[in-house]
Amino acid sequence: MGKDVIIACDFDSAEKTFAFLDKFEGKKPFVKIGMELYYAEGPQIVREIKRRGHKIFLDLKLHDIPNTVKKGMAVLSRLDVDMTNLHAAGTKNMMKAAIEGLTREDGSRPMLIAVTQLTSTDQESMENDLLINEPIDKVVMHYASCAKDAGLDGVVCSPLEAGKVHERCGAGFVTVTPGVRFADGDVGDQKRVMTPAEAKRIGSDYIVVGRPITAAEDPVAAYERCCREFIG
Ligand code: C5P
Repeated sequence: MGKDVIIACDFDSAEKTFAFLDKFEGKKPFVKIGMELYYAEGPQIVREIKRRGHKIFLDLKLHDIPNTVKKGMAVLSRLDVDMTNLHAAGTKNMMKAAIEGLTREDGSRPMLIAVTQLTSTDQESMENDLLINEPIDKVVMHYASCAKDAGLDGVVCSPLEAGKVHERCGAGFVTVTPGVRFADGDVGDQKRVMTPAEAKRIGSDYIVVGRPITAAEDPVAAYERCCREFIG
């Protein structure tokens, strides 16, 4: 499994996305397409970025009844993305159905990663809104175990949780971690952040980096710095 830096392409149009990616010239960074860009441009944006030779993490966080998720995943697998995701809260049955839908006729499939509890959910909102009364760390680890039992490849988690996820679910269970900031950079609205070097030390497999690269004066230099600090 390759450690890599995934750039969150949080743009609202194909035009802005390609203006950004064109700066990389010969380089083909791994990119994340989230709801904003996908809902703005549809599947064509995925095809076009793939055609340009990038690996793609399609971050649409599916959560529905198992049959609907299975059928949705079957469509996504035909888009030939490298990684996609769902909410573990949809249950093990939903996650197993997702894998069935995602698996192509030749047995191959994109990596499938689960969101445990969103990092925007805290203990208080989990208890008050979701009526879950266990400590949030325990809930995150339990959801990660369910994802592993269902056959998923890993979880999206805070870099602070990556080490514990590996302890519980094994070194081969992938951790994809947002909330990465340079030591001398803006934190923005992220609360619990880590530098790329710290994320490396703690054992993240992939870091997802948005604004520290997309809003940098020199995005290519920022991406290269990230790769140097994280991959070495
Ligand atoms: O710009 P920034 O580096 O904060 O972008 C982080 C990316 O990771 C965004 O696309 C955000 O939606 C995503 N993300 C996150 N926290 C999560 C899950 C996803 O920041 N828990």
